[in-house]
Amino acid sequence: MKVIIVKNYDEMSKEAAKIVSDQIEKNSKSVIGLATGGTPEGMYKELINKRLSWKDVTTFNLDEYVGIPKEHPLSYYTYMYENLFNHIDIKHENVFIPNGNGDINKNGKEYDELIQKHNGVDLQVLGIGENAHIAFNEPGSSFTAGTREVELTESTINANARYFASKDEVPKTAISMGIGTLMKAKKIILLASGTKKMFAIKDTIEGPITEKVPGSILQKHPDVTIIIDEDAAKALESRMHLACACEE
Ligand code: PGA
Repeated sequence: MKVIIVKNYDEMSKEAAKIVSDQIEKNSKSVIGLATGGTPEGMYKELINKRLSWKDVTTFNLDEYVGIPKEHPLSYYTYMYENLFNHIDIKHENVFIPNGNGDINKNGKEYDELIQKHNGVDLQVLGIGENAHIAFNEPGSSFTAGTREVELTESTINANARYFASKDEVPKTAISMGIGTLMKAKKIILLASGTKKMFAIKDTIEGPITEKVPGSILQKHPDVTIIIDEDAAKALESRMHLACACEE
C-alpha cells in the first residue's frame, strides 16, 4: 500500500487526476472505475481541464441509489454526466453505471459479467465513508461479495442527507459493486480529505483487516495508492514515516 499525503483537497485532486490521466495516456482503451460523492469532484474538474481524449475509454461506476429514476437530479447517473461525462468526449455506450431499478440482484450479476467481458477494471478510483465503507459496502459486508443490493447505514444516510431536501428522502438501499468485485481491479487509488475521514483512514491503513472496516481489505491488494490530505492523515501513527508531499 502506497500512501501519499498532500497539503489539501486541491492537491489531492491534482495528484489523483494525474494518475488517471497517466493511465489513459498509457492505454487509450483503459477501463476506469469511477466514484461519486464530494471527494472526487475536484479530480473530475482537473481531468476536464486536461482535455485528454476519452473516446476509447470505458468506465464503470461503483454504485447507484435504488428506486430513483436515473434522470433524478441526485442520482449518480446525473452526478456523473454533470461532473464529467458532459464535458469530455467519452462515448455514451462506453459508460456503465449500475441500474438501481428493476431486479437489482440480477442487474448486479449482469454488471459483474460486463466488467469481466471488458477484461476487468484497469484503474479503480475510490472514496471512503466516515465508517470506512468503500463503494456502498458498509461495515460487516462480505469481502467476497459481488455487485448487489445493499442497505445503507444510518451514518451513510446522515452523510448523504446534505444533498437531499431532508434525511427521509435519502434512499435506504443502493446497488453497489461488492468488495470481491473491487478487489479484482488491477490498480486502485483511494482519495480522502478532511478530519471527518481521519479515523476511517487510520483503520484502513493501520488497523487489522476485518469486515468491520471495509477499507482494511485494501491492505491485501497488490497495487493500491492512498492519496490523502493532511487533515485526513491526522490520526495516522505512521504519518511521520510516510512520504509527505505537503512540505513547502
Ligand atoms: P464523500 O463520500 O466523497 O461524499 O465524502 C465518500 C463515500 O461515501 O465513499
